Amino acid sequence: MPEELPYSEACENNKEPILEILQKHIDKQKTLLEIGGGSGQHGEFFAQHFPNLLWQSSDTPKTVDILNLRVQASGLSNLPEAIPIDVDDANWNVDTYDLIFTANSLHIMSENSVKNFFRGVQRTLNAHGLLLVYGPFKYGGKFTTKSNEQFNSWLKFRDPKSGLRDFESINFLANQSGLEFLADNSMPANNQMLVFYKTN
Ligand SMILES: C[S@@+](CC[C@H](N)C(=O)[O-])C[C@H]1O[C@@H](n2cnc3c(N)ncnc32)[C@H](O)[C@@H]1O
Repeated sequence: MPEELPYSEACENNKEPILEILQKHIDKQKTLLEIGGGSGQHGEFFAQHFPNLLWQSSDTPKTVDILNLRVQASGLSNLPEAIPIDVDDANWNVDTYDLIFTANSLHIMSENSVKNFFRGVQRTLNAHGLLLVYGPFKYGGKFTTKSNEQFNSWLKFRDPKSGLRDFESINFLANQSGLEFLADNSMPANNQMLVFYKTN
């Protein structure tokens, strides 16, 4: 019997709206690195829509094998085997990329890991590259909706180091890493898609 593929309902719901934003920003770029690829549904869907873009997915060493079940089943030539990356690794052992994408990961990892994520982005994103970050955020310390506040409580109950991040702190870390804020897109289900540009 074929092995069951990893699946996330959230990915099914958000992949079309995310695609619309990616289509505005992806043009002639050749390579993208995804951090925290999860079920691989995003990689599979977006690699199909951008056949000239190499979509290199990754996830933590603990979880990358699960992600690879879907990557391998997809058989897409522009979706190579996902690689193990924990953002806390001092060296991600990768090439540099034209784009970096991550969805629903910054509120899962600890605040310290978010800082390490941006250090890694600084090392790994090519000059003039884009960082695209999807997920829910707070603004000025305030939740945008009651449901995001409840989600945050649930996250913290599960792991006190998790939690929704402030847009301002993300923008600060991005600036420190040589990135400029480009756009904040409101997305369905109280999410955002933040876009940053690496100046050089
Ligand atoms: C809620 S899942 C989101 C997965 C997928 N991107 C999606 O949108 O469905 C959070 C992801 O962040 C990854 N993650 C958590 N901590 C991480 C870390 N320190 N380094 C890299 N990835 C991490 C998890 O392994 C998981 O794949």
